Amino acid sequence: MEDKFARRMSSVHRSFIREILKVTADPSIISFAGGLPNPECFPYEAISEAARRALADKPVNALQYSTTEGDPELRAWIAERYFTRMGLRLEPDDILITTGSQQCVDLVAKVFLDKGDAVVLERPAYLGAIQSFSVFEPTFRTIPLHTDGPDLAALESLLDQGPAKLFYAVPNFQNPSGMSYSLEKRQAVAELCLRRDLLFVEDDPYGELRFKGEHLPSVYTFTKGRSILMGSFSKIATPGFRIGWIVASGGVRDALIRVKQASDLHTPSLTQRIMIELLKHYDMDAHIAMIRERYGKQSRVMVDAIQRHFPEGVTISDPEGGMFLWVTLPEGYSSMKLIDKAVERKVAFVPGKPFYVEEGRGENTLRLNFSNASEEMIEEGVSRLGSALREFLGQ
Ligand SMILES: Cc1ncc(COP(=O)(O)O)c(C=O)c1O
Repeated sequence: MEDKFARRMSSVHRSFIREILKVTADPSIISFAGGLPNPECFPYEAISEAARRALADKPVNALQYSTTEGDPELRAWIAERYFTRMGLRLEPDDILITTGSQQCVDLVAKVFLDKGDAVVLERPAYLGAIQSFSVFEPTFRTIPLHTDGPDLAALESLLDQGPAKLFYAVPNFQNPSGMSYSLEKRQAVAELCLRRDLLFVEDDPYGELRFKGEHLPSVYTFTKGRSILMGSFSKIATPGFRIGWIVASGGVRDALIRVKQASDLHTPSLTQRIMIELLKHYDMDAHIAMIRERYGKQSRVMVDAIQRHFPEGVTISDPEGGMFLWVTLPEGYSSMKLIDKAVERKVAFVPGKPFYVEEGRGENTLRLNFSNASEEMIEEGVSRLGSALREFLGQ
Protein backbone atom coordinates (compact mmCIF):
# COMPACT_ATOMS: atom_id res chain seq x y z
CA MET A 1 0.00 0.00 0.00
CA GLU A 2 2.98 2.31 0.52
CA ASP A 3 3.13 2.87 -3.25
CA LYS A 4 -0.19 4.70 -2.89
CA PHE A 5 1.12 7.23 -0.35
CA ALA A 6 0.74 10.91 -1.21
CA ARG A 7 3.92 12.58 -2.52
CA ARG A 8 4.08 14.74 0.60
CA MET A 9 4.88 11.68 2.75
CA SER A 10 8.40 11.64 1.33
CA SER A 11 9.11 14.93 3.11
CA VAL A 12 7.66 13.87 6.48
CA HIS A 13 10.22 12.01 8.56
CA ARG A 14 9.98 10.14 11.84
CA SER A 15 11.11 12.21 14.75
CA PHE A 16 14.71 11.36 15.58
CA ILE A 17 13.86 12.02 19.22
CA ARG A 18 11.28 9.21 19.22
CA GLU A 19 14.02 6.90 17.93
CA ILE A 20 16.38 7.92 20.75
CA LEU A 21 13.62 7.49 23.30
CA LYS A 22 13.50 3.81 22.34
CA VAL A 23 17.14 3.46 23.45
CA THR A 24 16.39 5.28 26.69
CA ALA A 25 13.63 2.83 27.63
CA ASP A 26 16.52 0.91 29.28
CA PRO A 27 16.18 1.97 32.96
CA SER A 28 19.95 1.87 33.52
CA ILE A 29 20.35 4.78 31.08
CA ILE A 30 20.18 8.31 32.47
CA SER A 31 18.27 10.21 29.84
CA PHE A 32 18.60 13.90 29.13
CA ALA A 33 17.07 13.15 25.73
CA GLY A 34 13.31 13.52 26.19
CA GLY A 35 11.48 16.81 26.45
CA LEU A 36 9.26 15.76 29.30
CA PRO A 37 8.06 17.83 32.23
CA ASN A 38 8.88 16.40 35.65
CA PRO A 39 6.05 14.01 36.61
CA GLU A 40 6.69 14.81 40.27
CA CYS A 41 5.27 18.24 39.47
CA PHE A 42 1.92 16.90 38.25
CA PRO A 43 -0.90 17.88 40.65
CA TYR A 44 -2.26 14.30 40.90
CA GLU A 45 -4.65 14.77 43.79
CA ALA A 46 -5.99 18.09 42.59
CA ILE A 47 -6.60 16.59 39.13
CA SER A 48 -8.38 13.61 40.62
CA GLU A 49 -10.59 15.96 42.65
CA ALA A 50 -11.17 18.15 39.56
CA ALA A 51 -12.18 15.07 37.55
CA ARG A 52 -14.63 14.06 40.28
CA ARG A 53 -16.18 17.54 40.20
CA ALA A 54 -16.28 17.60 36.39
CA LEU A 55 -18.13 14.30 36.36
CA ALA A 56 -20.53 14.93 39.24
CA ASP A 57 -24.28 15.29 38.61
CA LYS A 58 -24.60 13.83 35.10
CA PRO A 59 -22.56 16.56 33.39
CA VAL A 60 -23.82 16.82 29.82
CA ASN A 61 -21.27 19.54 28.99
CA ALA A 62 -18.33 17.25 29.91
CA LEU A 63 -19.54 14.31 27.84
CA GLN A 64 -21.45 15.72 24.89
CA TYR A 65 -20.07 17.09 21.59
CA SER A 66 -19.15 20.71 21.99
CA THR A 67 -18.14 23.85 20.08
CA THR A 68 -14.95 23.98 18.02
CA GLU A 69 -13.92 27.25 19.72
CA GLY A 70 -13.63 25.52 23.09
CA ASP A 71 -15.23 26.00 26.48
CA PRO A 72 -16.04 29.68 27.18
CA GLU A 73 -14.98 29.43 30.83
CA LEU A 74 -11.59 28.06 29.85
CA ARG A 75 -11.14 30.76 27.21
CA ALA A 76 -12.09 33.42 29.78
CA TRP A 77 -9.43 32.10 32.21
CA ILE A 78 -6.75 32.21 29.51
CA ALA A 79 -7.72 35.75 28.42
CA GLU A 80 -7.65 36.95 32.05
CA ARG A 81 -4.24 35.39 32.63
CA TYR A 82 -2.72 37.29 29.68
CA PHE A 83 -3.96 40.46 31.36
CA THR A 84 -2.51 39.63 34.76
CA ARG A 85 0.77 38.32 33.33
CA MET A 86 1.53 40.97 30.71
CA GLY A 87 -1.26 43.55 30.67
CA LEU A 88 -2.56 42.16 27.39
CA ARG A 89 -6.28 42.80 27.00
CA LEU A 90 -7.99 39.96 25.17
CA GLU A 91 -11.58 38.79 24.91
CA PRO A 92 -12.42 35.11 25.46
CA ASP A 93 -13.46 35.14 21.80
CA ASP A 94 -9.88 35.89 20.78
CA ILE A 95 -8.89 32.44 22.08
CA LEU A 96 -9.37 29.15 20.26
CA ILE A 97 -8.81 25.99 22.32
CA THR A 98 -6.69 23.37 20.54
CA THR A 99 -5.58 19.80 21.14
CA GLY A 100 -2.17 20.78 22.51
CA SER A 101 -0.11 23.58 21.03
CA GLN A 102 1.24 21.05 18.54
CA GLN A 103 -2.17 21.27 16.85
CA CYS A 104 -1.78 25.06 16.65
CA VAL A 105 1.24 24.58 14.38
CA ASP A 106 -0.68 22.16 12.19
CA LEU A 107 -3.71 24.46 11.92
CA VAL A 108 -1.59 27.51 11.13
CA ALA A 109 0.21 25.51 8.43
CA LYS A 110 -3.11 24.35 6.96
CA VAL A 111 -4.51 27.87 6.85
CA PHE A 112 -1.45 29.67 5.49
CA LEU A 113 0.81 27.35 3.52
CA ASP A 114 0.70 26.38 -0.11
CA LYS A 115 3.30 24.02 -1.49
CA GLY A 116 6.57 25.89 -2.04
CA ASP A 117 5.75 28.84 0.25
CA ALA A 118 8.72 30.07 2.25
CA VAL A 119 8.64 29.53 6.02
CA VAL A 120 11.29 31.23 8.13
CA LEU A 121 12.58 29.24 11.10
CA GLU A 122 15.03 29.95 13.87
CA ARG A 123 18.28 28.03 13.57
CA PRO A 124 18.04 25.62 15.42
CA ALA A 125 14.25 25.14 15.35
CA TYR A 126 11.64 23.12 17.24
CA LEU A 127 11.57 19.69 15.62
CA GLY A 128 7.81 19.23 16.04
CA ALA A 129 7.21 22.37 14.01
CA ILE A 130 9.61 21.27 11.26
CA GLN A 131 7.63 18.02 11.11
CA SER A 132 4.22 19.73 11.13
CA PHE A 133 5.13 22.27 8.46
CA SER A 134 6.82 19.61 6.29
CA VAL A 135 3.46 17.98 5.59
CA PHE A 136 2.55 21.10 3.59
CA GLU A 137 5.76 21.02 1.52
CA PRO A 138 7.05 24.56 2.13
CA THR A 139 10.60 25.71 1.50
CA PHE A 140 12.38 26.40 4.76
CA ARG A 141 14.68 29.37 5.24
CA THR A 142 16.50 29.87 8.50
CA ILE A 143 18.14 32.65 10.48
CA PRO A 144 20.66 32.23 13.29
CA LEU A 145 19.44 32.41 16.87
CA HIS A 146 21.81 34.30 19.19
CA THR A 147 21.70 34.48 22.99
CA ASP A 148 19.45 37.57 22.80
CA GLY A 149 17.23 36.35 19.94
CA PRO A 150 17.22 36.01 16.16
CA ASP A 151 19.70 37.70 13.84
CA LEU A 152 17.46 40.39 12.35
CA ALA A 153 20.01 41.55 9.77
CA ALA A 154 19.95 37.98 8.45
CA LEU A 155 16.15 38.11 8.38
CA GLU A 156 16.16 41.39 6.42
CA SER A 157 18.60 40.08 3.83
CA LEU A 158 16.70 36.81 3.53
CA LEU A 159 13.50 38.78 2.82
CA ASP A 160 15.38 40.94 0.30
CA GLN A 161 16.04 37.74 -1.65
CA GLY A 162 12.34 36.85 -1.81
CA PRO A 163 9.11 36.96 0.17
CA ALA A 164 8.20 34.54 2.97
CA LYS A 165 4.76 33.69 4.32
CA LEU A 166 5.50 33.36 7.99
CA PHE A 167 8.18 33.33 10.66
CA TYR A 168 7.66 30.58 13.25
CA ALA A 169 9.50 31.26 16.50
CA VAL A 170 9.73 30.29 20.17
CA PRO A 171 10.86 33.51 21.93
CA ASN A 172 10.77 32.08 25.47
CA PHE A 173 13.29 29.38 26.48
CA GLN A 174 13.30 27.83 23.06
CA ASN A 175 13.17 24.14 22.40
CA PRO A 176 15.88 23.03 21.68
CA SER A 177 18.38 25.80 22.54
CA GLY A 178 16.89 27.25 25.75
CA MET A 179 17.53 30.76 24.31
CA SER A 180 15.17 33.69 24.90
CA TYR A 181 14.61 36.98 23.12
CA SER A 182 15.62 40.19 24.91
CA LEU A 183 13.00 42.94 25.26
CA GLU A 184 14.69 44.95 22.50
CA LYS A 185 14.65 41.96 20.13
CA ARG A 186 10.94 41.38 20.85
CA GLN A 187 10.15 44.96 19.88
CA ALA A 188 12.47 44.88 16.87
CA VAL A 189 11.16 41.58 15.51
CA ALA A 190 7.57 42.84 15.83
CA GLU A 191 8.47 46.05 13.98
CA LEU A 192 10.34 44.17 11.24
CA CYS A 193 7.56 41.63 10.68
CA LEU A 194 4.90 44.37 10.42
CA ARG A 195 7.07 46.47 8.10
CA ARG A 196 7.96 43.52 5.84
CA ASP A 197 4.47 41.96 5.96
CA LEU A 198 5.76 38.73 7.47
CA LEU A 199 3.33 36.85 9.70
CA PHE A 200 4.94 36.24 13.09
CA VAL A 201 3.82 32.92 14.60
CA GLU A 202 4.80 32.86 18.26
CA ASP A 203 4.82 29.48 20.00
CA ASP A 204 4.97 29.97 23.76
CA PRO A 205 4.55 26.78 25.78
CA TYR A 206 7.38 27.68 28.20
CA GLY A 207 6.67 31.39 28.92
CA GLU A 208 5.48 30.78 32.49
CA LEU A 209 8.60 28.76 33.35
CA ARG A 210 11.04 31.62 33.93
CA PHE A 211 13.30 30.92 36.89
CA LYS A 212 15.86 33.68 36.34
CA GLY A 213 15.70 37.31 35.16
CA GLU A 214 12.70 39.44 34.43
CA HIS A 215 9.46 38.26 32.89
CA LEU A 216 9.08 39.75 29.39
CA PRO A 217 5.94 40.41 27.34
CA SER A 218 5.13 38.37 24.24
CA VAL A 219 6.07 39.69 20.81
CA TYR A 220 2.29 39.67 20.21
CA THR A 221 1.95 42.65 22.58
CA PHE A 222 4.14 44.67 20.17
CA THR A 223 2.36 43.67 16.95
CA LYS A 224 -0.96 45.00 18.25
CA GLY A 225 -2.67 41.75 17.44
CA ARG A 226 -1.28 41.46 13.91
CA SER A 227 0.50 38.19 14.64
CA ILE A 228 -0.36 34.77 16.04
CA LEU A 229 0.31 33.63 19.59
CA MET A 230 0.03 30.08 20.90
CA GLY A 231 -0.01 28.66 24.41
CA SER A 232 -0.37 25.38 26.25
CA PHE A 233 -1.26 23.80 29.58
CA SER A 234 1.25 21.00 28.94
CA LYS A 235 4.14 22.49 30.87
CA ILE A 236 2.15 24.18 33.68
CA ALA A 237 -0.42 21.44 34.37
CA THR A 238 0.14 18.18 32.46
CA PRO A 239 0.73 17.31 28.79
CA GLY A 240 -1.69 14.37 29.09
CA PHE A 241 -4.66 16.73 28.93
CA ARG A 242 -3.67 17.77 25.41
CA ILE A 243 -4.98 21.32 25.81
CA GLY A 244 -3.42 24.31 24.12
CA TRP A 245 -4.73 27.49 22.50
CA ILE A 246 -4.25 30.04 19.73
CA VAL A 247 -4.77 33.76 20.15
CA ALA A 248 -6.19 35.07 16.89
CA SER A 249 -9.10 37.21 15.83
CA GLY A 250 -11.20 38.16 12.81
CA GLY A 251 -10.81 36.25 9.58
CA VAL A 252 -7.74 34.33 10.78
CA ARG A 253 -9.63 32.98 13.78
CA ASP A 254 -12.52 32.05 11.53
CA ALA A 255 -10.22 30.15 9.15
CA LEU A 256 -8.50 28.37 12.05
CA ILE A 257 -11.89 27.29 13.39
CA ARG A 258 -12.86 25.90 9.99
CA VAL A 259 -9.70 23.78 9.66
CA LYS A 260 -9.94 22.62 13.25
CA GLN A 261 -13.52 21.55 12.67
CA ALA A 262 -12.35 19.55 9.68
CA SER A 263 -9.58 17.96 11.77
CA ASP A 264 -11.18 16.88 15.03
CA LEU A 265 -14.46 18.82 15.51
CA HIS A 266 -13.24 20.03 18.89
CA THR A 267 -10.77 19.37 21.69
CA PRO A 268 -12.25 16.84 24.17
CA SER A 269 -14.97 18.42 26.32
CA LEU A 270 -14.07 16.20 29.25
CA THR A 271 -10.45 17.32 29.61
CA GLN A 272 -11.53 20.95 29.17
CA ARG A 273 -14.07 20.60 32.00
CA ILE A 274 -11.52 18.90 34.26
CA MET A 275 -9.05 21.68 33.52
CA ILE A 276 -11.64 24.31 34.40
CA GLU A 277 -12.37 22.62 37.73
CA LEU A 278 -8.64 22.44 38.40
CA LEU A 279 -8.17 26.14 37.65
CA LYS A 280 -11.12 27.11 39.84
CA HIS A 281 -10.19 25.10 42.93
CA TYR A 282 -6.40 24.81 42.83
CA ASP A 283 -3.79 27.48 43.40
CA MET A 284 -2.17 27.55 39.96
CA ASP A 285 0.10 30.46 40.87
CA ALA A 286 1.61 28.49 43.73
CA HIS A 287 1.83 25.41 41.51
CA ILE A 288 3.65 27.23 38.71
CA ALA A 289 5.97 28.89 41.26
CA MET A 290 6.84 25.41 42.55
CA ILE A 291 7.67 24.17 39.01
CA ARG A 292 9.81 27.26 38.35
CA GLU A 293 11.74 26.80 41.54
CA ARG A 294 12.32 23.13 40.86
CA TYR A 295 13.43 23.54 37.24
CA GLY A 296 15.61 26.48 38.27
CA LYS A 297 17.36 24.28 40.82
CA GLN A 298 17.73 21.41 38.33
CA SER A 299 19.16 23.75 35.72
CA ARG A 300 21.69 25.16 38.24
CA VAL A 301 22.72 21.65 39.28
CA MET A 302 23.26 20.74 35.61
CA VAL A 303 25.24 23.88 34.78
CA ASP A 304 27.37 23.43 37.89
CA ALA A 305 28.05 19.74 37.12
CA ILE A 306 28.92 20.59 33.52
CA GLN A 307 31.45 23.17 34.71
CA ARG A 308 33.15 20.47 36.78
CA HIS A 309 32.91 17.52 34.38
CA PHE A 310 33.01 18.77 30.77
CA PRO A 311 36.38 19.25 29.05
CA GLU A 312 37.78 22.53 27.71
CA GLY A 313 36.31 23.80 24.46
CA VAL A 314 32.74 22.65 25.10
CA THR A 315 30.37 25.59 25.63
CA ILE A 316 26.82 25.71 27.01
CA SER A 317 23.84 28.07 27.00
CA ASP A 318 22.66 29.66 30.23
CA PRO A 319 18.89 29.11 30.26
CA GLU A 320 16.71 31.54 32.21
CA GLY A 321 13.73 29.21 32.10
CA GLY A 322 12.15 26.26 30.35
CA MET A 323 13.52 22.74 30.24
CA PHE A 324 16.58 22.69 27.96
CA LEU A 325 20.25 23.47 27.83
CA TRP A 326 22.25 23.67 24.59
CA VAL A 327 25.77 22.34 24.24
CA THR A 328 28.26 23.23 21.52
CA LEU A 329 31.30 21.01 20.88
CA PRO A 330 34.43 22.33 19.19
CA GLU A 331 34.09 22.67 15.39
CA GLY A 332 34.56 19.46 13.48
CA TYR A 333 33.19 17.12 16.17
CA SER A 334 29.85 15.41 15.56
CA SER A 335 27.37 14.79 18.37
CA MET A 336 25.83 12.07 16.16
CA LYS A 337 29.04 10.13 16.81
CA LEU A 338 29.24 11.14 20.47
CA ILE A 339 25.79 9.67 21.14
CA ASP A 340 27.09 6.10 20.67
CA LYS A 341 29.86 6.67 23.19
CA ALA A 342 27.38 8.27 25.58
CA VAL A 343 24.91 5.39 25.34
CA GLU A 344 27.78 2.95 26.01
CA ARG A 345 28.27 4.88 29.26
CA LYS A 346 24.54 4.77 29.94
CA VAL A 347 23.65 8.39 29.35
CA ALA A 348 21.64 9.89 26.48
CA PHE A 349 20.96 13.28 24.88
CA VAL A 350 19.56 14.50 21.58
CA PRO A 351 22.11 15.41 18.89
CA GLY A 352 21.49 18.90 17.49
CA LYS A 353 21.45 17.95 13.80
CA PRO A 354 17.69 17.11 13.54
CA PHE A 355 16.85 20.65 14.71
CA TYR A 356 18.46 22.08 11.54
CA VAL A 357 16.73 21.81 8.19
CA GLU A 358 19.88 22.38 6.14
CA GLU A 359 22.34 19.54 5.59
CA GLY A 360 25.67 19.94 7.32
CA ARG A 361 24.52 22.33 10.04
CA GLY A 362 24.43 21.77 13.78
CA GLU A 363 26.63 18.66 13.73
CA ASN A 364 28.60 19.86 16.76
CA THR A 365 25.58 20.72 18.93
CA LEU A 366 23.34 18.77 21.29
CA ARG A 367 20.34 19.29 23.56
CA LEU A 368 20.15 18.35 27.24
CA ASN A 369 16.85 18.22 29.12
CA PHE A 370 17.10 19.03 32.83
CA SER A 371 13.43 18.98 33.87
CA ASN A 372 12.91 15.23 34.00
CA ALA A 373 15.84 14.00 36.10
CA SER A 374 16.53 14.19 39.84
CA GLU A 375 19.47 16.25 41.04
CA GLU A 376 21.42 13.04 41.80
CA MET A 377 20.74 11.72 38.29
CA ILE A 378 21.80 15.02 36.78
CA GLU A 379 25.10 14.93 38.67
CA GLU A 380 25.77 11.30 37.71
CA GLY A 381 24.58 11.68 34.09
CA VAL A 382 26.71 14.79 33.51
CA SER A 383 29.71 12.99 34.99
CA ARG A 384 29.18 10.04 32.58
CA LEU A 385 28.74 12.43 29.66
CA GLY A 386 31.88 14.29 30.71
CA SER A 387 33.97 11.12 30.51
CA ALA A 388 32.40 10.21 27.14
CA LEU A 389 33.30 13.71 25.94
CA ARG A 390 36.88 13.54 27.19
CA GLU A 391 37.41 10.27 25.37
CA PHE A 392 35.68 11.62 22.26
CA LEU A 393 37.72 14.81 22.16
CA GLY A 394 40.91 12.96 23.06
CA GLN A 395 41.46 14.92 26.29
C1 LIG B 1 8.14 24.69 21.19
C2 LIG B 1 7.08 23.68 21.39
N1 LIG B 1 5.88 23.86 20.82
C3 LIG B 1 4.88 22.99 20.97
C4 LIG B 1 5.05 21.84 21.73
C5 LIG B 1 3.91 20.89 21.85
O1 LIG B 1 3.32 21.00 23.09
P1 LIG B 1 1.84 20.57 23.41
O2 LIG B 1 1.94 19.52 24.45
O3 LIG B 1 1.17 21.82 23.92
O4 LIG B 1 1.21 20.08 22.15
C6 LIG B 1 6.28 21.60 22.35
C7 LIG B 1 6.47 20.37 23.14
O5 LIG B 1 7.48 20.04 23.65
C8 LIG B 1 7.32 22.54 22.17
O6 LIG B 1 8.52 22.37 22.73
